[in-house]
Amino acid sequence: MMRVHELREMYLKYFKDKGHSVIASASLFPEDDPTVLFTSAGMHPLVPYLLGQPHPEGNRLTNVQKCVRTTDIDGVGDTTHLTFFEMLGNWSLGDYWKNEAITWSYEFLTSKKYLGFDPDKLSVTVFAGDEDSPKDDEAAEAWLSVGIPEERIFFLGKEDNWWIAGTSGPCGPCSEMFIEVDEIPKCGPDCRPGCHCGHFVEVWNDVFMSYRKLDDGTYEPLPMKSIDTGMGIERTIAMLQGVPSVFETDLFIPLINRVKELSNREEYTEEDERLIRIIVDHVRSAVMIMADDRKIGPSNVEQGYIIRRLLRKAIHSADRLGIGQGFMSSLAEIVIDMFKDLYGEVERNKEFIMNNLTSEEAKFRKTLSKAIRRFDKIYLDTGIITGEDAFLLFTSFGLPLEMTRDLAEEKGIKIDMDEFTKQFEEHREISRTATQGKFKGGLAEHSEKIVKLHTATHLLQAALRKVLGDEVTQNGSNITEERLRFDFTFSRKLTPEEIEEVEKLVNDVISQDLEVTQRFLPYDKAIGKGALAFFKENYGESVSVYSVGGFSMELCGGPHVERTRVLGKFRIAKQKSIGSGLMRIRAVLED
Ligand code: ALA
Repeated sequence: MMRVHELREMYLKYFKDKGHSVIASASLFPEDDPTVLFTSAGMHPLVPYLLGQPHPEGNRLTNVQKCVRTTDIDGVGDTTHLTFFEMLGNWSLGDYWKNEAITWSYEFLTSKKYLGFDPDKLSVTVFAGDEDSPKDDEAAEAWLSVGIPEERIFFLGKEDNWWIAGTSGPCGPCSEMFIEVDEIPKCGPDCRPGCHCGHFVEVWNDVFMSYRKLDDGTYEPLPMKSIDTGMGIERTIAMLQGVPSVFETDLFIPLINRVKELSNREEYTEEDERLIRIIVDHVRSAVMIMADDRKIGPSNVEQGYIIRRLLRKAIHSADRLGIGQGFMSSLAEIVIDMFKDLYGEVERNKEFIMNNLTSEEAKFRKTLSKAIRRFDKIYLDTGIITGEDAFLLFTSFGLPLEMTRDLAEEKGIKIDMDEFTKQFEEHREISRTATQGKFKGGLAEHSEKIVKLHTATHLLQAALRKVLGDEVTQNGSNITEERLRFDFTFSRKLTPEEIEEVEKLVNDVISQDLEVTQRFLPYDKAIGKGALAFFKENYGESVSVYSVGGFSMELCGGPHVERTRVLGKFRIAKQKSIGSGLMRIRAVLED
């Protein structure tokens, strides 16, 4: 049975023998692309070369690239989704074209000297053609000539057979290769490659880079045509090892076994298995992200936010399996051992990784236990957990709804989800109208004063986080003509020095007369860029984001002032503790 390291070595050697230079995996943090958080495909670091810049290693390249994709983060737990994965790839930069790419893909997949998949189980897809690019007869011809029969060549449209990283840049038609799995029967007469029932498993994709998509949505031909291919290691090794899921390959078995040792149960339900998969995927990803030499740990912004989300979900899942503190280090040891010879940074930054895992776990378990104590108290006092309670646990303690639901289930009670959603919507509406300045009762429309105080509220939150740390998050806000009021999570009063520092930061920004700008971004992207959000979920497709220079960024409907100087002088008038880790500040703007 082929092991995963043999697959990596065999692939690189195969393409090296065909004149390719083996290049190192690039960082998981894209170098020149501020629009995405992580390298998500092998071609991603090669974009400038696909657009025509000469590559120092030549025009035939191959490698194993570390990748992270977070779009499906909530899908992890089934048998296929992963956040971190490795992609094998080979590239021609203006050199060989479809015939060679397809001939080599076919040989590597089916020859007994290499992967040895049964050629009768191989199907392919090619681009059907549309107004932007013609039907890909050339690729279909190449497949026919290596021996794939016509009935196993499927012509599909852009959704299936067109590759682009993001929304603009080098792109083109592609041809995907699928292996049929006998154990999973076709789901129906229309089952074909690209169907998600599991019968056809995609193992490789050859992209024929021929266009550049511009920001205005139009395509222009590339000056030179290139090949970009990608083979996901995890899925391919699962097929080679004849197991139904990536979690049963040698990449995951040691991790799964360790989790099982730690939880020490006799039997595992379907749900337990799901939690185990979440734990191993999330810890593996977080370790690989933190291994980067940039040394980014968990935080509330950008990549750090993703690390935090991964780790917290893993801790929550471990908690449910009865696995105690320290499990993450134990799993991280395995991940580090597995990857240290392939990616030097993993060993180099081991201490950084381990320290962050330990402190994040301690921090989150503390919040968790507070939230659970509150849950228990509500339950003891009232005998139920209402949707409103769940909502309060969510906003005040950051207790994920999913977890409140689990806790309730353990007590044999059900949470009224409709009520939770209603609360959520209502608060969102209040927050939205409040930020638009449309207060009910008295303040019928927003005055200039209110708009100024609203912008000042954003500056205050950013300054508090800079002075007190990331644990400061908004819990509520209220603005009148006279003052702003801001509630936030923090466990003690601020010292006079801290108050002074916060005031100074805000006043500095005001005197710099920074521009206040509004942009519309997809929610995940906004959060990924570090925008603060009062509510954590259920935003629509595109959200409004207000930034004040590089100082503050928040999801918000507005309105705001155009530049900061008009705010005058900012002063904190009062602070008080409003209980259970919450503080309230009242502040004013003076001329
Ligand atoms: N860039 C192509 C992919 O990731 C090969 O599928």
